[in-house]
Amino acid sequence: MITKLERTDARTRPDEHLRELFSEGFPEFITADHVVKDYIGRAREWFADLNLMLIDDHEIPVASGWGVPIHWDGLPETLPTGYTQALVRAVEGREQEVEANTLVICGAIVTPSLKGRGLAGETLKALRRTAGNTGLEQVIAPVRPTMKAQYPLTPIETFMRWTREDGLALDPWIRTHQRLGARILAAAPASQTMTGTVAEWERWTGMVFPEAGDYVIPDGLSLLRISHSTDEGIYQEPNVWMRHN
Ligand SMILES: CC(C)(COP(=O)(O)OP(=O)(O)OC[C@H]1O[C@@H](n2cnc3c(N)ncnc32)[C@H](O)[C@@H]1OP(=O)(O)O)[C@@H](O)C(=O)NCCC(=O)NCCS
Repeated sequence: MITKLERTDARTRPDEHLRELFSEGFPEFITADHVVKDYIGRAREWFADLNLMLIDDHEIPVASGWGVPIHWDGLPETLPTGYTQALVRAVEGREQEVEANTLVICGAIVTPSLKGRGLAGETLKALRRTAGNTGLEQVIAPVRPTMKAQYPLTPIETFMRWTREDGLALDPWIRTHQRLGARILAAAPASQTMTGTVAEWERWTGMVFPEAGDYVIPDGLSLLRISHSTDEGIYQEPNVWMRHN
């Protein structure tokens, strides 16, 4: 399978191709971050040059990755709190004509049948190259550790330190970044905040929440807190800030 690189907006793609690519990987509640909803449209439009796809020799997309440009002075204490604040900083930075110097890799996905073959790494490398060509000297990522859902009770600060015998991270997605020369910078315990009514959370998770309290939810990297008095569920998504060389 030969893969070519192109911008996601390079052409109109048949729905069935996109459905296959995005068919697994993210829980339904991933889109319940209201700040992201406000900013994602402008980010997609303005930073389309940092939204890429790998396509196979039948022109079918097999992987995708995207990022946004921000200004960052390189200090851990001035990192965005996570994915959402990076998006806000990128969009508002552009509105205020702040010169960006850093690519924030926001996400990547590989078509289910081709996972585990290094396509994500190819996508990350393509994003880094594109960023370098546009003058973004630094590359960082609020990484969403794919294995964290199996350890929803473990603080992200602890989880991100777990390693295998070879010294690489226990988490496979952190490992992919490490193999490309990235290292862990900091925990981002509240990278995103997802909110919804109790009924919405019941629909998104396929569970019922009879009482107020904290719940383990399918594909949740941390716990969902349900409050019946305010008819609200709040879930904070932990990520891990990594920096590429
Ligand atoms: C995370 C993701 C992009 C990684 O893509 P990938 O091309 O499979 O990544 P790699 O080939 O580098 O594999 C990374 C590791 O995960 C393992 N892995 C990946 N997919 C796997 C699968 N379906 N089953 C078992 N192991 C898998 C690989 O064996 C590898 O482990 P290793 O370090 O021991 O070799 C892909 O799994 C995906 O699309 N997930 C859903 C979306 C997502 O969570 N994206 C990341 C957050 S934005």
